[in-house]
Amino acid sequence: MNEDDSLRIVPLSREHLDQILPIERASFSDPWTRGMFESELDQEPQGYVRGMLRRGTVIGYVFAVFIPDEAHIGNLAVAPWERRSGIAQRLLDQLVRDASNEEIKRVTLEVRASNHGARKFYYKNSFIDIAIRKNYYRSPVEDAIVMFRVLPEDPSA
Ligand SMILES: CC(C)(COP(=O)(O)OP(=O)(O)OC[C@H]1O[C@@H](n2cnc3c(N)ncnc32)[C@H](O)[C@@H]1OP(=O)(O)O)[C@@H](O)C(=O)NCCC(=O)NCCS
Repeated sequence: MNEDDSLRIVPLSREHLDQILPIERASFSDPWTRGMFESELDQEPQGYVRGMLRRGTVIGYVFAVFIPDEAHIGNLAVAPWERRSGIAQRLLDQLVRDASNEEIKRVTLEVRASNHGARKFYYKNSFIDIAIRKNYYRSPVEDAIVMFRVLPEDPSA
């Protein structure tokens, strides 16, 4: 079997939380709690939650909301041992395709100012910095950079 055949992007639900939480804790100094993930999973119909599974196990995920005209990414993480192999890229590409199909015009997110790896990932994907939210984060206190990407009017363009 091709390595890629074992990878699948699927909608996530509460049954995946036991796999999501260790990745979350390994990825952030201020991880989302189980309760925060649960309330995001309850955000139907705006909630957009997708995970990358490798042979049925979650190795990365994106939590977003699709509101009129805008997709806002609240959380994106990849298991540390799976990084730099294109997993986040595939999750973002799928989100952009799905958002474009719903005629969403832009994608926004906040990222810690010191998170240079994530910022490079987003710059590579045509995001730009549009604002600073002072002292937005806790543990440790830090500014957020608000990033923004315009989606093409015609997704096939
Ligand atoms: C940021 C993150 C999601 C990237 O996931 P990933 O699966 O490793 O990213 P990809 O392999 O798809 O990266 C695609 C490209 O983005 C860029 N990139 C990704 N991570 C990078 C890093 N740490 N440093 C520099 N560039 C990076 C590279 O250009 C990369 O291509 P390359 O590997 O061929 O050079 C992952 O590092 C992560 O989970 N970090 C902790 C959580 C986090 O910071 N989330 C974002 C919060 S907004």
